[in-house]
Amino acid sequence: MNPTAKSRDGEGTAARPHVVSTLRDRAALSAALAAHVAALSRAAIAAQGRFRIALCGGSAVALLGPALAQEPLRSHIEWSAWHLFWVDERCVPFDHPDSNYRLAREAFLDAVPVPAAQVHPCNTGLAGEAAAADYESRLRSVCGGRRDAWPRLDLVLLGVGEDGHIASLFPGHPLLQERRKAVAWLHDAPKPPPERITLTLPVLNHAHNVAIVASGSGKAGVVSRALRGGPEADDLPVRRVHPKRGVVRWLLDREAGGRLLPGGEAENS
Ligand code: 6PG
Repeated sequence: MNPTAKSRDGEGTAARPHVVSTLRDRAALSAALAAHVAALSRAAIAAQGRFRIALCGGSAVALLGPALAQEPLRSHIEWSAWHLFWVDERCVPFDHPDSNYRLAREAFLDAVPVPAAQVHPCNTGLAGEAAAADYESRLRSVCGGRRDAWPRLDLVLLGVGEDGHIASLFPGHPLLQERRKAVAWLHDAPKPPPERITLTLPVLNHAHNVAIVASGSGKAGVVSRALRGGPEADDLPVRRVHPKRGVVRWLLDREAGGRLLPGGEAENS
């Protein structure tokens, strides 16, 4: 599927095309990503008085955080209207080096005034399934509580693994078929640590916006397969991200997106 192709979301409705921005380097990618999040935040707060964002782990948060927490963006964001969730979390203590909550705190959260009651980390002190159920109810309490409807976030921030995984949804894993739970537990993640909880595909596909971030030459192959299709591309979990009524924007640096452009030069968009 090329970036502008319409694609089916697996339920017969045409999903919106993916928008792809390729920036010249990591610094430009960081600035563009932070500006995008700030703009989505402004729009959501203007429309509904709050901004509900879910953060992944990995390099996307390291790219986003510092630019958000510094001027000029920092003072132009209405932090008091933010509700912060996690797309996935490793089942480790909050102060563990593998914790995505710790990653976000160090990247920007400790430097910005989001009210503590509006920061919603996973309760990783609970055992697996209980932690997932606890998180689902916390997510639903803010993003939509009806049991027959999926919680709806304003923005889901995703990185993508070289194997095409997103969140903690890995190629060939049964959780890719989960259609009852909004939050699930797994103990066999191929990317360590193995025990995690994760939002499921229906929640990702009910978000108003999804931002998929990739940087570095190591991601060029998966980005090209994800956006252009080709052999084994259909097994990539990232190709199942097609929000029914949402916009997917890919933000890449030239190394990750170079195979998409003639000559590999960046669009600097
Ligand atoms: C996690 C992440 C995971 C990550 C990708 C990409 O908790 O591990 O949510 O989905 O986003 O593995 O990570 P990098 O961008 O660091 O390669």
